[in-house]
Amino acid sequence: MRFSRACAVLVAATSTVAVSVNPLPAPREISWGTSGPKQIADLSLRTETDNNEGTLDQAWDRVWESIIALRWVPAATEAPISSFQPFPTGAAAPAKKNTKRRLSVVHSVNVQVEDKNADLQHGVDESYSLDVGDDADCITIKAKTVWGAIHAFTTLQQLIINDGHGGLILEQPVSIKDSPLYPYRGIMLDTGRNFISLPKIFEQLNGMSLSKLNVLHWHIDDSQSWPIWVESYPDMVKDAYSPREIYSRNDVRNVIAYARARGIRVIPEIDMPSHSSSGWKQVDPEIVTCTDSWWSNDNWAEHTAVEPNPGQLDIIYDKTYEVVRNVYRDLSEIFVDNWFHVGGDEIQPNCFNFSKHVTKWFAEDPSRTYHDLAQYWVDHAVPIFQEYSKERRLIMWEDIVLSPENAHNVPKNIVMQSWNNGLEYISNLTARGYDVIVSSADFMYLDCGHGGFVTNDPRYNVMSRADPQTPSFNYGGDGGSWCAPYKTWQRIYDYDFTLNLTEAQTKHIIGATAPLWSEQVDDVNVSNMFWPRAAALAELVWSGNRDADGKKRTTQMTQRILNFREYLVANGVQAQALVPKYCLHNPHACDLYRNQSALH
Ligand SMILES: *[C@@H]1O[C@H](CO)[C@@H](O)[C@H](O)[C@H]1NC(C)=O
Ligand SMILES: *[C@@H]1O[C@H](CO)[C@@H](O)[C@H](O)[C@H]1NC(C)=O
Ligand SMILES: *[C@@H]1O[C@H](CO)[C@@H](O)[C@H](O)[C@H]1NC(C)=O
Ligand SMILES: *[C@@H]1O[C@H](CO)[C@@H](O)[C@H](O)[C@H]1NC(C)=O
Ligand SMILES: *[C@@H]1O[C@H](CO)[C@@H](O)[C@H](O)[C@H]1NC(C)=O
Repeated sequence: MRFSRACAVLVAATSTVAVSVNPLPAPREISWGTSGPKQIADLSLRTETDNNEGTLDQAWDRVWESIIALRWVPAATEAPISSFQPFPTGAAAPAKKNTKRRLSVVHSVNVQVEDKNADLQHGVDESYSLDVGDDADCITIKAKTVWGAIHAFTTLQQLIINDGHGGLILEQPVSIKDSPLYPYRGIMLDTGRNFISLPKIFEQLNGMSLSKLNVLHWHIDDSQSWPIWVESYPDMVKDAYSPREIYSRNDVRNVIAYARARGIRVIPEIDMPSHSSSGWKQVDPEIVTCTDSWWSNDNWAEHTAVEPNPGQLDIIYDKTYEVVRNVYRDLSEIFVDNWFHVGGDEIQPNCFNFSKHVTKWFAEDPSRTYHDLAQYWVDHAVPIFQEYSKERRLIMWEDIVLSPENAHNVPKNIVMQSWNNGLEYISNLTARGYDVIVSSADFMYLDCGHGGFVTNDPRYNVMSRADPQTPSFNYGGDGGSWCAPYKTWQRIYDYDFTLNLTEAQTKHIIGATAPLWSEQVDDVNVSNMFWPRAAALAELVWSGNRDADGKKRTTQMTQRILNFREYLVANGVQAQALVPKYCLHNPHACDLYRNQSALH
């Protein structure tokens, strides 16, 4: 291919100049020049060959195609719309009218990557710099890895805009130094409660790529369905919702390849030992327990599951581990990431009453507790998970160490995903030396606040309740959603999840993931449930929620996320509207407080 060559960089820069673009996530450092707009010609990529199987060339082609297809006009700018011009005042857009300007046309993007072979795995260097100098006729991108260079592209993609006459400009020379605050930045997709089709998964990956999220946590199955093909046990997909709603091995490879091309890792989760019925029971009904019990929300003391339908792997039955080993090995072969999520949440003691193996085990030694049972799972299952490869790192939900049925000793190298009790549990886990992924339900659960999904529920019948004892859901309450209310983008963005942690604890936070449980979500609304709220998380974990003075910058983020929502939709991601469009056109006219420093 083409060779990179030196390209003048910006010498003196200032950030006081007004530009209308507002890329998301905000780069860590960005400074604009003042010498006027640069016209963007047909940009070609100049880089050395062999950039990680052509990843860079493909990424550039994709980005360039989007740039020229959209010829983006910023939809919400920091400046009031009345003074907004597609290009700054005084700058003549068509460069031919301004023949005196030297080298105002940019022809190429020169990319220098130090380590072209760095694999996309946890902790890979994602930093980049992007420079366009006053006199430069090219854009210089420098990155340690291909993955950092791809992030530079998605920044550049948001900087190149319409010149007002159908051409393209960069509003000013610019210099950016950028890198993420956290190496693990994800969203969690649940395809066990409802199936999500491949095109919709690709759509989420597109949104993630634009916002620099780098982990798709794929909660593949749950008790309700088993949608993934497993080579060792072809019968498991009998518990897919239909033969159409199955991920073949090729489907999975396509998802992983699509994600990887955008710098996104795909980490599978097989939730065990709880949340397990479908699929497993096709292999051998005896490896799962309580699948035919009444889940019993109406008599909570006897509940066998927190939602229908019940089912858990039988922890004491030997054959369970044989099946777990085969399923895990088969899936590990197609999911190439070093990391694997093995669940571990919400073990329900009552469910084990239905297992002859577990009840016998308890009877043999009356001193045994549910803690011992959870420990038995850890002692027998974790070695199977760990032995797959030297590089294998496991993730589990925090319940395995912090629930009422926690195990006594869980290896410290297992990453804990924290979802309960916000800062308290984050603090507890990090103090004990666990690496933590923040997913606090009160801040990051994207499914909350839409009422309950269970049927035959008299609590909604407030007009004529047969039984006045039945508690009613009122609109001031949670309306049946256990984690109500709905988490707005501001709720997510304002979450200071390292508050009051020591330096040592803070180092144990590797990032955050926003989960979207899909009981009430499928292809119809998966995109608007994720977006644009996931972009608030994306900026929170990329460059944070504070400005250089340490003040909350939610007010500045407002126009950025409003613009980004329009940008997502323009790029085919069906993101939800956040405000009347009036608010986009009139920055801060829709604020609650006139005083913009009211937020700390
Ligand atoms: C399970 O067994 C325990 C202890 O014997 C008992 O308290 C509980 O009610 C049982 N649960 C069910 C659902 O039968
Ligand atoms: C974490 O929580 C457990 C269970 O509540 C408690 O026993 C333990 O002391 C806590 N540890 C820390 C370091 O906060
Ligand atoms: C953080 O620490 C401060 C000072 O000790 C305390 O007042 C505050 O309640 C703590 N915040 C949380 C959320 O724990
Ligand atoms: C998604 O669909 C569910 C079920 O119909 C509904 O409760 C929820 O409000 C929808 N979400 C959005 C954002 O439309
Ligand atoms: C705006 O809010 C900040 C922080 O609460 C306060 O210090 C400042 O005095 C307020 N400004 C005005 C004009 O009220």
